[in-house]
Amino acid sequence: MLPANYRIRHLEPADYDAIIEICRRVYPTERPYTTEELADHHQVFPQGQFVAVDETRGAVAGVHFTLRLRMTDFHIDDSWDVLTAGGSFLDHDAQGPTLYGADIMVHPEHQHHGLGRALTDQARFLVEEERLWRMVGASRLPGYGRYQTTMGVEAYVDAVLAGRMIDPVLSVHMKDGWTPVRPIHGYLQHDDESAGWAVVIQWVNPACPPPPEFDLRRLPEAARAKLVQAE
Ligand SMILES: CC(C)(COP(=O)(O)OP(=O)(O)OC[C@H]1O[C@@H](n2cnc3c(N)ncnc32)[C@H](O)[C@@H]1OP(=O)(O)O)[C@@H](O)C(=O)NCCC(=O)NCCS
Repeated sequence: MLPANYRIRHLEPADYDAIIEICRRVYPTERPYTTEELADHHQVFPQGQFVAVDETRGAVAGVHFTLRLRMTDFHIDDSWDVLTAGGSFLDHDAQGPTLYGADIMVHPEHQHHGLGRALTDQARFLVEEERLWRMVGASRLPGYGRYQTTMGVEAYVDAVLAGRMIDPVLSVHMKDGWTPVRPIHGYLQHDDESAGWAVVIQWVNPACPPPPEFDLRRLPEAARAKLVQAE
C-alpha cells in the first residue's frame, strides 16, 4: 500500500532532472539517462512511464519505465541496450503483447516504503487494462558480486528463491509477484555488483491467453524453443 504522502502519476518533462539524479545515485557505474531519452520515453508510450512523487517534499521519489514489445522479435537473453534500442524506447511496438519493464528505481532516501511494490502494481494494472499477455523484466543480482568466486550463479539464485539468502533486487521482485525464468549474463553493461548477471522474470496475465501468433504449434522450431524457455 502506498504511504499517504506519496502518489503515482505519469512522467512529465519537469521530472527529467530529478530522474537523471536518481539514476546517478542507484546506478553509479552506468551512464544515466539523457533528457532526450526521457523525452523519447514520454513521446512513444506516455501511459507506460510511472513516477512516484513525495507530495510533502514535492520531490520525485522513484520511477518505473515500460514499453510494449513483440518478444519473439527478441531473444529472451538480449541485453537491456537491445531491448530498449539503446535506452531510447524507440522500439516500442504499440501492438506488442508483452509489457517490458525496462527500469524501476527508487531514490535511496525513499526505499523500503513500498514504492517499488506500488510502481510494479501500476505496470500490472496497465497489462490488465490493455489486455496484454504478460510483463517481462530482468532482475539485477546486486548481492551476487561478492559471492561470484565462491558460488555459481545458479546456486545463488536457488538460495535466494528458497529464502536462504536475500538479494536486494531479486528478493524484492519475488515478493512483488514476478516468476523467475532463468539467469542471463551481460544484461547491463557495467553491473559489477551483479557480476554482470540478472534473472529474466515475468508475470503472465491470467485473463489473457497468448496471442495466436504465439501458439506454439504455429512457430518455427527455433522460436518455439525460445518461447518454451521463457515460460
Ligand atoms: C529494487 C528497488 C526498486 C526496490 O524499491 P523499494 O521502494 O525499496 O521497494 P519496496 O519498498 O516495495 O520493497 C523493499 C523492501 O521494503 C519493505 N517494505 C515495503 N513497504 C514497507 C513499509 N511500508 N515500511 C517498511 N518496509 C517496507 C519490503 O518488504 C521490502 O523489504 P525487504 O527487502 O527487507 O524484504 C530499489 O531497491 C532500487 O531502486 N534499487 C536500485 C535500482 C535497481 O537495481 N532497480 C532494479 C533494476 S532490475
